[in-house]
Amino acid sequence: MMISNQSYCFSGIATLYSFFFLVSLFLHTLASPMLHYCRHDQRDALLDFKHEFPVNESNSSPYLSSWNKTSDCCFWRGVTCDAKSGEVISLDLSFSPFNNSLNPNSGLFKLHHLRNLTLANCYLYGEIPSSLGNLSHLTHLDLSENYLVGEVMALVGNLTQLRYLSLSSNKFSGNIPVSFANLTKLSYLDISENQFESTLPRDMSRFHNLEEFYVGGNSFSGSFPTSLFMNPSLTWVVLTRNQFKGPIEFSNTSSSSKLQGLYLSHNKFDGPIPKSISKFSNLEHLFLGSNSFTGSVPTFLSKLVNLEILDLSHNNLVGPIPRSNIVKLKSLDLSNNKLEGEIPGWLAGLSASMLSGNSFKSFAKSFEVSDLTQIILLDLSSNSFRGPLPSWICKLRSLDLLDLSNNSFNGSIPQCFKNIVVDLRTLNMQNNDFSGILLPEIFVNATRLIRVDVSGNKFEGKLPESLINSRYLEILNVRSNRFKDKFPSWLSSLPSLNVLIIRSNEFYGPLYDHPNVSIGFQSLKVIDISHNDLNGTLPPFYFSNWREMTTLSKDISTGMYMENPGFSGGYYLPSMEMVNKGVDTKFEQILKDFRAIDFSGNNFVGEIPKSIGLLKGLRLLNLSGNAFTSNIPQSLANLKNLEALDLSRNQLSGQIPPDLGSLSFLSTMNFSHNNLQGPIPKGTQFQRQNCSAFMDNPRLNGLEDICGETHVPDPTPQETEDLSEPEEQQVISWIAAAIAYAPGVFCGFVIGHIFFTQKHEWFMEMFRPSN
Ligand SMILES: *[C@@H]1O[C@H](CO)[C@@H](O)[C@H](O)[C@H]1NC(C)=O
Ligand SMILES: *[C@@H]1O[C@H](CO)[C@@H](O)[C@H](O)[C@H]1NC(C)=O
Ligand SMILES: *[C@@H]1O[C@H](CO)[C@@H](O)[C@H](O)[C@H]1NC(C)=O
Ligand SMILES: *[C@@H]1O[C@H](CO)[C@@H](O)[C@H](O)[C@H]1NC(C)=O
Ligand SMILES: *[C@@H]1O[C@H](CO)[C@@H](O)[C@H](O)[C@H]1NC(C)=O
Ligand SMILES: *[C@@H]1O[C@H](CO)[C@@H](O)[C@H](O)[C@H]1NC(C)=O
Ligand SMILES: *[C@@H]1O[C@H](CO)[C@@H](O)[C@H](O)[C@H]1NC(C)=O
Ligand SMILES: *[C@@H]1O[C@H](CO)[C@@H](O)[C@H](O)[C@H]1NC(C)=O
Ligand SMILES: *[C@@H]1O[C@H](CO)[C@@H](O)[C@H](O)[C@H]1NC(C)=O
Ligand SMILES: *[C@@H]1O[C@H](CO)[C@@H](O)[C@H](O)[C@H]1NC(C)=O
Ligand SMILES: *[C@@H]1O[C@H](CO)[C@@H](O)[C@H](O)[C@H]1NC(C)=O
Ligand SMILES: *[C@@H]1O[C@H](CO)[C@@H](O)[C@H](O)[C@H]1NC(C)=O
Repeated sequence: MMISNQSYCFSGIATLYSFFFLVSLFLHTLASPMLHYCRHDQRDALLDFKHEFPVNESNSSPYLSSWNKTSDCCFWRGVTCDAKSGEVISLDLSFSPFNNSLNPNSGLFKLHHLRNLTLANCYLYGEIPSSLGNLSHLTHLDLSENYLVGEVMALVGNLTQLRYLSLSSNKFSGNIPVSFANLTKLSYLDISENQFESTLPRDMSRFHNLEEFYVGGNSFSGSFPTSLFMNPSLTWVVLTRNQFKGPIEFSNTSSSSKLQGLYLSHNKFDGPIPKSISKFSNLEHLFLGSNSFTGSVPTFLSKLVNLEILDLSHNNLVGPIPRSNIVKLKSLDLSNNKLEGEIPGWLAGLSASMLSGNSFKSFAKSFEVSDLTQIILLDLSSNSFRGPLPSWICKLRSLDLLDLSNNSFNGSIPQCFKNIVVDLRTLNMQNNDFSGILLPEIFVNATRLIRVDVSGNKFEGKLPESLINSRYLEILNVRSNRFKDKFPSWLSSLPSLNVLIIRSNEFYGPLYDHPNVSIGFQSLKVIDISHNDLNGTLPPFYFSNWREMTTLSKDISTGMYMENPGFSGGYYLPSMEMVNKGVDTKFEQILKDFRAIDFSGNNFVGEIPKSIGLLKGLRLLNLSGNAFTSNIPQSLANLKNLEALDLSRNQLSGQIPPDLGSLSFLSTMNFSHNNLQGPIPKGTQFQRQNCSAFMDNPRLNGLEDICGETHVPDPTPQETEDLSEPEEQQVISWIAAAIAYAPGVFCGFVIGHIFFTQKHEWFMEMFRPSN
């Protein structure tokens, strides 16, 4: 009994044991994919890594805050362990503001089993320590968008398991060593936007798995190793903005190539466009712009039956556009070549045609009779088109952007033009010979317009009041026409109007309809109404509702502002350089911190309104060539950002407010030809001015310091003219040019550039690859 009992008991315990064993086995089997069992060496390495970065409460890593010993390190944010071994195999800490460099003994390099390492956008500085070579299992390495420097490629060339490598947007330098071709498993390589240089290894044929290859925005030179194209999986190749040169041939490419995108723009490739390119039968995007390709636009391109975007702009191509069609093409950029002849009918089937900067003269009959409703963007600027607008223009009912600028179109704008502005956002007609009246109702359906430039024509009569329907209008430039109208104060109700240029027309009368109602141009940043027949007084509160101009830009050192202020040296030229370099500086960014007023060359009388002192963001102010009287308002000293001030050729009296001497950015000023008196303020900015800036103010004193001892302090009027004229002209035209830049030259440039930028972005957006 006992025995049996015992045995029962024993067997019972055994059963129980085996039950537990089975249960635990069962549970273990079930749960094992989820249990990680952080290995202590791995945990300690991670904690070491965490402690290498200064803790910043206000700006700490969203990941590292969860890293502490109370929890399993395999559950820490950004960490992935191998399920079986508990080794850390993946670390993804993107957007952690580490704000430091990696040290050679970093805990990071003790995580020998890492396969994925992603430290993108982490504010990492300095060089990558060679210990990175310890992470020999890495298959995925992403260090993009940091501030890393040094010659990293020899190091990375040892990580032979890599399939994905992104080092883009850092400051890495040096060349690509031959050993790099050992990374035969790579399928994705992005080293764009760095400072790599020299030539690429000749033999690039060993990347059998390579799909995407991005090296744009470096300083690579020499001929491009087309052996790369022998790799059968290639789909995207981007070489833009380097110095690759010479002719390029794709002779060893199989016709089963998977290549979908080939970007060679902004290099120094030359010679004719190679026929071998037509072997890439799957090509969808082909960018050959901004090189030195010669010859004609080849007909073999029509073999690229899948091509959707073709950019041949900024080359030396000659002759007419061939008649053969590229079936699926949507966007064609032929701008800035030496092409000529007529525009063939097949372009009517495209969404976007950029043809500017050639010598095109006319359109083929087949174009004119086509259905033109496919066309969304048409840029005909800077060609040799002349005569009245062709009647087919009114068939363009889907237009988003129309650029006719810098041709010799003439005659008036037909009434049916109002049908094509329905979707239009950008209209550029500047520098043509258009004349006549813009019909008042022409913009009645133009509810989407953002930019309108009709400057440099011979339009007359009134501004079309239907513009009031363009609620999104940001830029209106009607400079240099013959508009004869009252000041268009009704434009002040357009909530987004940033730039208003009516310079050099025949606008007349006062700036307001009712002297007691102040108009507020709430979004205006640049206004140029100079050289018209405007007159009357400006009430003291005139500027009090100009909201955008009253905001002081937060950080004057950002934007286009350079160390040495002064718009000729510091302000605009860099932006133009950037434009020339093809940097996509948005017009909005250029305008971001820029505020300017030019009221010069009118007949304004009375006091300069005190409310001018509210426009804290103002950088250029030109009130010259009017008949302003009384004192210069003290409130001008509030304009801390002011860089240029021209009050010359008025009838101002009293002293120059001494507080103006404290405006540290004020580098150019002109007070000449007034009735000012008393001392010139002591500020260094004043003392640095040319003598001529104060000329013809007989009762002003202190000129000796500025003009030098030898200078006659109070010259006769005759001498004034002789001595000061050239300098003075220079200052005035400087300001004119600067203001003109914002709207005119600058706008001629920038608006030209905006259109370019817009077009570029526009079509990239429109035709972004679907992957
Ligand atoms: C912490 O981060 C904030 C926000 O980025 C920064 O302003 C501050 O200087 C940082 N402090 C330290 C000690 O790095
Ligand atoms: C440790 O991390 C866990 C989350 O993983 C968090 O809930 C806990 O508050 C942390 N403890 C300390 C002391 O920071
Ligand atoms: C980065 O660190 C420096 C000091 O080394 C500090 O001045 C700066 O504010 C930090 N920046 C951020 C974004 O934390
Ligand atoms: C990297 O590996 C070398 C030997 O290859 C070793 O001396 C060094 O300690 C390792 N560094 C780290 C941080 O583990
Ligand atoms: C490593 O990265 C690759 C590519 O992004 C991804 O497919 C894989 O899931 C990642 N592995 C881990 C463990 O995070
Ligand atoms: C690359 O690896 C080889 C052999 O494994 C080693 O001798 C060499 O020092 C490594 N190079 C770098 C830059 O780490
Ligand atoms: C890398 O390539 C070079 C020459 O291309 C070769 O000599 C070397 O052995 C290779 N190294 C490795 C680690 O495969
Ligand atoms: C093309 O391939 C052949 C044979 O593989 C080779 O001899 C030739 O050098 C290659 N040409 C180019 C331009 O790579
Ligand atoms: C206008 O076109 C002519 C050639 O037709 C060109 O030389 C000039 O640079 C163009 N001007 C602008 C501002 O684009
Ligand atoms: C337009 O220009 C053509 C020459 O291109 C000329 O014959 C015609 O008279 C001009 N028309 C107007 C209205 O100026
Ligand atoms: C223009 O707008 C009016 C109403 O405001 C509408 O009747 C007309 O159809 C519109 N025209 C076009 C071409 O859309
Ligand atoms: C302003 O100009 C208008 C027309 O140009 C003229 O009739 C009027 O008398 C002028 N007013 C003043 C105050 O000069």
